Amino acid sequence: MRHFIDLHEWSSKDLWHLIQLAAHLKAEWQSGGNRPVLGGKTLGMIFQKQSLRTRVSFDVGMQHLGGHAIILGPDEIGLGKRESLADIARVLSGYVQIIAARVYSHQHVTELAKWSRVPVINMLSDDSHPCQALADVLTIYEHFGAVRELKVAFLGDGNNVAASLLEAAAHFGMHFTIATPKNYELPAHVWQRVKHLAEASGATFQAFHDADEAVEGAHVIYTDTWVSMGQEKETEQRLAIMRPYQVNRHLLEGADRNVVVLHCLPAHRGDEITDEVADGEHSLIFEQAENRLHAQKAILVELLKQ
Ligand code: CP
Ligand code: NVA
Repeated sequence: MRHFIDLHEWSSKDLWHLIQLAAHLKAEWQSGGNRPVLGGKTLGMIFQKQSLRTRVSFDVGMQHLGGHAIILGPDEIGLGKRESLADIARVLSGYVQIIAARVYSHQHVTELAKWSRVPVINMLSDDSHPCQALADVLTIYEHFGAVRELKVAFLGDGNNVAASLLEAAAHFGMHFTIATPKNYELPAHVWQRVKHLAEASGATFQAFHDADEAVEGAHVIYTDTWVSMGQEKETEQRLAIMRPYQVNRHLLEGADRNVVVLHCLPAHRGDEITDEVADGEHSLIFEQAENRLHAQKAILVELLKQ
């Protein structure tokens, strides 16, 4: 059974196929609509956390492809409380053809996959956000016409979004830099598990504590919230310590003159990104958000193609 839990579990070739498929499905949608290749199929979506983009884009994506989605919110199934993950996965597998989950503990999504008889998609865990990274690569590819050898700089917190972006960079031969405060770096095992991918693709990685060093000559600057879901108690401390990593006009001056700015959203304007940059000429944040729809259609079609 094939799942979409983390990018490092896929081959670079298969991930590239997903990007091409996403571009194809996007063009098909824009020229009149997708063929109903997922007719009669149901996606069961489990949410432990809030969502706008992921929830709507998966639901609408299923509709465009002729299928439909069921949304199970945090209070509905009591993941791991009312019933074990193993039982939920085995019951849901009898009703739906594919499961997607947004969870706190990454282990919850791997546990669902372990017991499920249908494919499982990670819609974000505390550790990773692979659907986001796929849409990010699609956005970069559309804009530059290629991704290999582009320099992508991530600023702020070494979080789930940064981890998946690193994995994408490793697969596709990008030069990935990251600037975080001390103690907010990406964990060592995250670097370790993609080393072999980078050796094969020619990707390089560099970690800094200085934002200007990380963005020097960057083609893409990427940021995300400084306070992820589940970290709300640390808000005050995080906002103070991350301040030097704000993506603002001054920071962009050190990047390539044609730099593009990405943000997975939701944005906290005035914190990790200024209004001026988010709404400015370098920003692709809304194209990126739209691409969640197209990238996830590719994941759904690929996982359900048997
Ligand atoms: N970027 C993203 O995953 O957005 P949501 O949390 O709104 O789904
Ligand atoms: N890092 C953020 C991403 C939200 C899409 C979070 O986990 O809350």
